[in-house]
Amino acid sequence: MNIKVAPSLLSADFLHLGDEINSLVAAGADMLHIDVMDGHFVPDISMGPIVLRSLENKIPLDIHLMIEKPEHLIDSFMEYGDVLTVHVESSSLIGEVIRRVKNSGKKIGLAIKPSTELSAIKPYLDNIDMVLVMSVEPGAGGRKFLENVLPKIRSLRKIYSGDIGVDGGINAETSAAVIKAGANVLVSGSYIFGNDYADAIKKLRGFV
Ligand code: DX5
Ligand code: ZN
Repeated sequence: MNIKVAPSLLSADFLHLGDEINSLVAAGADMLHIDVMDGHFVPDISMGPIVLRSLENKIPLDIHLMIEKPEHLIDSFMEYGDVLTVHVESSSLIGEVIRRVKNSGKKIGLAIKPSTELSAIKPYLDNIDMVLVMSVEPGAGGRKFLENVLPKIRSLRKIYSGDIGVDGGINAETSAAVIKAGANVLVSGSYIFGNDYADAIKKLRGFV
């Protein structure tokens, strides 16, 4: 499967966000991963639709909604994102959220925390475009990759042919293991932003 690299803007220099995005596009990023936090589903607060509105859409935006009850806010994010990813743990109305996003013509992803069993997302697999397997506890960049998500990725790949993204602690060392396990979308924040962007993106793909 084609490997896609999605830099997480959480580690970007927010004072120069436009320049950062231009550099990432020039460095070969396939999409931009935007982490939205609400202070409830995760302790921190990051950015909302007002910031997204200002982003020039040069490559697809993958919006990772770490928010409780996304059914209340999903419409405003659908306006700007290409892939809307909600957490299976965040609402009892996930089926409805999936339907609404699909009806809008956008893609829908379902994210799963490290401690959540695969069985939680199984009922939805036929109706979604991506599974985002969290390889750290969601809430911040720079955390250490949790090796025990590898069996989860392997089991998922056996039953799911869509995109499998992995988010958290992805760097040149951990990317090889998640690709081997069956993932094809690599979300990476602190590793890309702490290195030469083009070099880091190539290394994530396993080219160097
Ligand atoms: C974590 C976020 C990630 C994070 C990844 O809650 O969902 O997207 O920014 O950052 P790194 O690559 O530094 O773990
Ligand atoms: Zn994320």
